[in-house]
Amino acid sequence: MNKLDVVLGLQWGDEGKGKVVDLLTPAYQVIARFQGGPNAGHSLVFDGDSFVLHTVPSGIFREGSVNIIGNGVVLDPVILMDEISQIEAKAGDISDRLLISKRAHLILPTHRMLDAASEAAKGKSKIGSTLKGIGPTYMDKTGRNGLRVGDIMSGEFTQRYEALKQKHLAMLAQYDFEFDIAEYEAKWLDAVQQLRRFSFIESELVANKLLEEGKSILAEGAQGSMLDIDFGTYPFVTSSNTMTAGVCTGLGVAPCRVGDVKGIFKAYCTRVGSGPFPTELFDEVGEQLRSIGHEYGATTGRPRRCGWLDMVALKYAIMMDGVTELIMMKADVMNSFDTIKVCTAYKIGNETVDHFPYEADDKVEPVYKSFPGWKSDITKVRSYEEFPVEFKNYVEWIEKETGCPVKIISVGPDRSETVMR
Ligand code: GDP
Ligand code: IMO
Ligand code: MG
Repeated sequence: MNKLDVVLGLQWGDEGKGKVVDLLTPAYQVIARFQGGPNAGHSLVFDGDSFVLHTVPSGIFREGSVNIIGNGVVLDPVILMDEISQIEAKAGDISDRLLISKRAHLILPTHRMLDAASEAAKGKSKIGSTLKGIGPTYMDKTGRNGLRVGDIMSGEFTQRYEALKQKHLAMLAQYDFEFDIAEYEAKWLDAVQQLRRFSFIESELVANKLLEEGKSILAEGAQGSMLDIDFGTYPFVTSSNTMTAGVCTGLGVAPCRVGDVKGIFKAYCTRVGSGPFPTELFDEVGEQLRSIGHEYGATTGRPRRCGWLDMVALKYAIMMDGVTELIMMKADVMNSFDTIKVCTAYKIGNETVDHFPYEADDKVEPVYKSFPGWKSDITKVRSYEEFPVEFKNYVEWIEKETGCPVKIISVGPDRSETVMR
C-alpha cells in the first residue's frame, strides 16, 4: 500500500503552498485538501497567467490529476462555483477531475453573518477573521448541527437548510448587527444546485482504495501550523487542525499511511489578522518586505504584517508536523538587504527560552542572529551551486538548526522560478 505525502505551511499561512503543490503535482495522481475552506488563498503563476484558489486543490490545472475536497474542508457553494467558472475558462470542464466529500460541511450565508457579527462585537480584540464563515461552520460541525455536502441530495435539504438558518437568525438577533442575506442566499441556493454536477464521494474510501492500488496522493494544507486550533497562537487562530495530524481526520487515512511531510516556510515571516507575532517589524525593513514581497492577502487584500524568520516558531511546527523535508520560499525578496536576521530564542523577563511559550504576548522579546546579505539577484538561479555563498550559508545554517534538508528553494512566484536539490 502506498503512503500519502503532505505539503503544509509552517508559519502563519501564505507561505506559498499553492505554487509548491502546482509544482509537485506531476509527481502525484491525486491532490487532496483536508481542512480549512475559502479563508485560504493559494496563488498559482504559470504560462503568463495567475490564479488564486480558495477551495479547489492546487493540482487542478495539471491534466490527468484527480483533485479531492476532503471531509475536513468547509465549503461555500457560491465561492466554490465562482472558482470553478474561473478554472474552467482556462482548463475546460473539470467535473471529471474534481471530487467532493459528502462529509464536507457547508458554509451557509448565515454562517458568514455570524462570523461578521462576532468579529464586530469583539471590537479591538477581534481575531481578524477572513469573514468567510469558517469559525461558525466548524462550530456547527462540532456542535452536531451542520449541513453537509451529502445532504444536498436529500429530499429534505430545503427544510434542513431553513431550520439551521432560523437557528442562526435567532443567534444573530443577540448582536447589534445589521445584515441582509437575501441576495447572497439566492446565489447560494443556485450554487448548491450547480454543485450537483460534481461527484460527491466518501473520500475516506476513495483515498484508501487509491493508496491500495499504488496511486500517489499529495495532501495540501491550508493556513499554517501557527494558526492551528490547538497549537497555534490561540485564540488568534483558525478553527481547524492545520497540522499533519489534520490530514488523518480530514481525509480518513490512518497515521501509518503518512509518508513524506514537506514543510513550507518563507525565508522571512508574515502574518495577516491579529495575534502574537514576536519577530514583527514596524520599521523600514518591515515596509520593504511588504512592498518587495507584495505581501497583501490573496483572499482579503489586507496588508500582511512582516518580520524576520522565527526559528523558535519554525522548530515548534517542524516538531509537531513531523516534517521530513523543508521548502524555502521568497528568499529573492531579501536580495538587496545588507543584513538578514533570524530569531533564535525569546527573552521573557530575565529568562531566555528556546521553545514556543503558552502565551507569546508582548513580553516576548526576540533574540537575533545576523547573517550578511547576499546582495545579488537570485531570481534567475536554477541550480543550488549557482547561489551566492552568503545565501548558501543561510540555507545550510537552517538545515543544521532544524535537522531537515531544504529540498526546494523558490526564487520567484512563477512555476519555473524554482531550484530543486
Ligand atoms: P499560500 O496561501 O501558501 O498558497 O500563499 P499565497 O498565495 O497566499 O501567498 C504567496 C505569495 O507569494 C503569492 O503571491 C505567490 O505568487 C508569491 N510567491 C510564491 N513563491 C514566491 C517566491 O519564491 N518569490 C516571490 N517573490 N513570490 C513568491
Ligand atoms: P492560506 O491557506 C493567512 C487567518 C486570518 C485570521 C485567522 C482566522 O492562504 O495560507 P478565519 O477566517 O480562519 O476565521 O481567520 O486566520 N487566516 C489566514 N492567514 N493565510 C490563510 O490561508 C489564512 N486563513 C485564515 O487572517 O487571522
Ligand atoms: Mg494564501
